[in-house]
Amino acid sequence: MEKCLGRRAYDLTLMWKTRWPNRIVFVLCLLPLVWLGWKWYQHDLGVNQIETVARFTGRWTLRLLLLSLAITPLRRLRGLNNLIRFRRMLGLFTFFYGCLHGLHYFALDAQWNWTVIREDLTFRRFFIAGFVALMLMVPLAATSFNAAIRWMGGKRWQALHRLVYLSAIVGLVHYVWQFKAITPTPILYGLILGLLLFYRVVAAIAKRRAA
Ligand code: HEM
Repeated sequence: MEKCLGRRAYDLTLMWKTRWPNRIVFVLCLLPLVWLGWKWYQHDLGVNQIETVARFTGRWTLRLLLLSLAITPLRRLRGLNNLIRFRRMLGLFTFFYGCLHGLHYFALDAQWNWTVIREDLTFRRFFIAGFVALMLMVPLAATSFNAAIRWMGGKRWQALHRLVYLSAIVGLVHYVWQFKAITPTPILYGLILGLLLFYRVVAAIAKRRAA
């Protein structure tokens, strides 16, 4: 029995050394898009399809953003150090869903009507916040490859990538501004983001003290 358990643990360790975990996470990240495509094919996106797609892609952008932020605290837990290998992929998928979400607004909601777009992005705080949150992700996605880390140097790269927290805060504000009254879901997302930020601040203080 003990031998069998040992063998299984050994197999799991070996599994981490293959590319399979990355492939699995890649497919999992694509599932929301597949689901959306399927619902569209089935004509099952509800009465207001534009709103359904905007909300669905917006929610997944925020969820993946929070998930990628959660990798660092989660990997500190025992045995979860390997999670780090998914962080870049989750970050890029966040950007991918964010682009889909933004593009959907420009192409289907505003129908490339530049007068509407200009007004929304100038006078409506909800749209301004969404746009800023997405724009903050651009330098992060653009410098997500290894050559960029080497070129910028680790410290500068890390400093730039702290922008992800700002993007998450502005994204959450964009979400909250959508509502006329406070509802449980944005509170839950806000709590998760608050905890993640709190962890980061505590970890930074501890690191400084240790140094
Ligand atoms: C060009 C940038 C963006 C534009 C134009 C935009 C626009 C929109 C629009 C039109 C909606 C639907 C509102 C409604 O139907 O009432 C929406 C919802 C939402 N957006 Fe954005 N957005 C942008 C970027 C982002 C980003 C970067 C995030 C995440 C970080 C985000 C997160 C959300 C969320 C969570 C929702 C609400 C989903 C729900 O109702 O459950 N958006 N956005």
